[in-house]
Amino acid sequence: MKHLATLFDLTPDDVMDILETAERLKEKHFAGNPETPLSNRVATLVFEKPSLRTRLSFEAAMTHLGGSASFFTGQDAGLYGRESLPDIARVISGYSDVIVLRTFSQDLIDEFCTWSSCPVINGLSDLYHPCQALTDLFTIREAFGSLTDEKIVFVGDGNNVSASLAMLTSMLGLPMTLACPPGYELPDDFMARLNEKCPNSQFTQTNDPITAVKDASIIYTDVWASMGQEEEAEKRKKAFADFQVTTELLALAPAHCRFMHDLPAKRGLEVTDKAMDGPQSIVFQQAENRMHLAKGLLTWIVRNAH
Ligand code: CP
Ligand code: NVA
Repeated sequence: MKHLATLFDLTPDDVMDILETAERLKEKHFAGNPETPLSNRVATLVFEKPSLRTRLSFEAAMTHLGGSASFFTGQDAGLYGRESLPDIARVISGYSDVIVLRTFSQDLIDEFCTWSSCPVINGLSDLYHPCQALTDLFTIREAFGSLTDEKIVFVGDGNNVSASLAMLTSMLGLPMTLACPPGYELPDDFMARLNEKCPNSQFTQTNDPITAVKDASIIYTDVWASMGQEEEAEKRKKAFADFQVTTELLALAPAHCRFMHDLPAKRGLEVTDKAMDGPQSIVFQQAENRMHLAKGLLTWIVRNAH
């Protein structure tokens, strides 16, 4: 059974197939000639954390593709002791053609995959956010015409979003740098696995955002405290004070540089209003593309389930 628990479940060819399917479906959507390959298909979403983009993008995607989506909180799905995880996974997958999970623990997603009889998509865990990274490369390809040589400089935390971007850029041989405060780099075990899986990875980490952005085509940021890290928010605000994306930081990059953020943004912390709303920002194109990418991914994963 094909799952998307992490991006390493995909090959580079799979990634290009998903991006091209999403591109075709987006074009047909705006041409008023939509495809409905998931007619009568059911997606079930189980989310332990809040979501605007991920939930709505998958729900809207299923409607556009001719199917439907059902949404459950972790509590309503019975994740906290009502019944066992293997039983929940076997029951939900019996009713569904695809499942989207948003969790704290990556292990929960991995275990769900073991028991599910239909594809499982990771809609964000503490460790990874693969649908976001796929959307981001889709958006970069759209904005720049191709992916070649477009360097992403992620100014922010070594978190689920930067980890997934590091994986995807490394799989495709694209340059990326994470500029973060000391102590907020991606973990050593993650880096070891990244370099083992992608020996030609061009991913680097630095504590100097000023130098890092000099050759950036994309400056990207995300919240300093992710969901589940609320108690660390004040400590992180101090640690990341020199890592805010401002128009001054954007001005250090080449003129063609674009600004991206997966959203939700904490305006005034990781990014200023002027950077977020300025001419280099493509954050709302990026947010809308979550839906177009979800359509490509759902179509691809249901087609390739077995
Ligand atoms: N970017 C993203 O995943 O947004 P949500 O948390 O609103 O789903
Ligand atoms: N890193 C953020 C991403 C939100 C989409 C979080 O996990 O809260």
